[in-house]
Amino acid sequence: MSHEISPLDEAAIESAVAAALTAIRGAGTLGELKDARLAHTGDHAPLTLANRAIGKLAKEDKATAGKLLGRARGRLQQSIQARQRELEALAAEQMLREETVDVTVPATRIPYGSRHPLSTLIDDISDLFVSMGWEIAEGPELEHEWFNFDALNFGPDHPARQMQDTFFVEGGEENHLVLRTHTSPVQARALLERDLPVYIACPGKVFRTDALDASHTPVFHQVEGLAVDKGITMAHLKGTLDHFARVMFGPEARARLRPSFFPFTEPSAEMDLWFPQKKGGAGWIEWGGCGMVNPHVLTACGIDPEEYSGFAFGMGLERTLMLRHGIPDMHDIVEGDIRFSSQFGTTSLGRGI
Ligand code: PHE
Repeated sequence: MSHEISPLDEAAIESAVAAALTAIRGAGTLGELKDARLAHTGDHAPLTLANRAIGKLAKEDKATAGKLLGRARGRLQQSIQARQRELEALAAEQMLREETVDVTVPATRIPYGSRHPLSTLIDDISDLFVSMGWEIAEGPELEHEWFNFDALNFGPDHPARQMQDTFFVEGGEENHLVLRTHTSPVQARALLERDLPVYIACPGKVFRTDALDASHTPVFHQVEGLAVDKGITMAHLKGTLDHFARVMFGPEARARLRPSFFPFTEPSAEMDLWFPQKKGGAGWIEWGGCGMVNPHVLTACGIDPEEYSGFAFGMGLERTLMLRHGIPDMHDIVEGDIRFSSQFGTTSLGRGI
């Protein structure tokens, strides 16, 4: 670039332009473009020098040289501007790419839990009794032996008190504490705590020393019903159970009573359920126990059996759930697998209360 170009040498000007355009188009960064611009259009660039030399030309050549060099310098300016825009756009794009902040939260989604169908069943049963004007009662799972047995007219040698059936708590023999084996102790608690008349339903957990198998579990649930009022008869018991059965199992369902024995009811009955969905055809299925509250229980709770009478019933909720949904194995209910629970909706009573 040191050799001078004559302002009238068209070929030399053209080759200087070609060299400049090659450098400009080949610039890969804004810095390289700046270098090319200084080299080919700066103060010491051949075309700048040639332009400056126009002044020394003869008057008649000035216009020709001015036109030649003006056009040449114009092409360079255009080319520089075009390349400048391209490189600026590239640089902006690259900056966006490199400076992007990744705002993705590095978290694994925890799957939602699912309500256990037993909880839903307990709510549905509670709603059913509340809609009849009953109250929901609760009692402790760690229960005094007196409430679990004595108040309910179990004799001191009744086999249900044996270690084989009942979980005694460590040191419990002195404290007389057991894990309640049924929800019936809530009967005695309710009669002692509440004003008459009493209409209560008590869903809750109970414990027996059974091994876990397809139809048993050592921790299960029952719902207890108790009505004590003046003039209560077994017909009220039967009507209540029929209604309960229909709400649980559909309009054709009903209850049947078979004579049985419980220390805390007299007379006592096993309650069978007419179960239209029974495998192999509709039929009777055992559902729970019931009876008229034994006068001894009323007396133990300070109630005059001459004035008041009552009925009580109790049934297993796991069994009720298995019947309602055709669940063949208890393991499914107790194992807590979300794939089991998520098959059930949050409310199961579609039949109206
Ligand atoms: N508590 C009895 C049981 O667990 C059921 C029952 C309740 C029987 C109320 C009669 C009255 O088997």
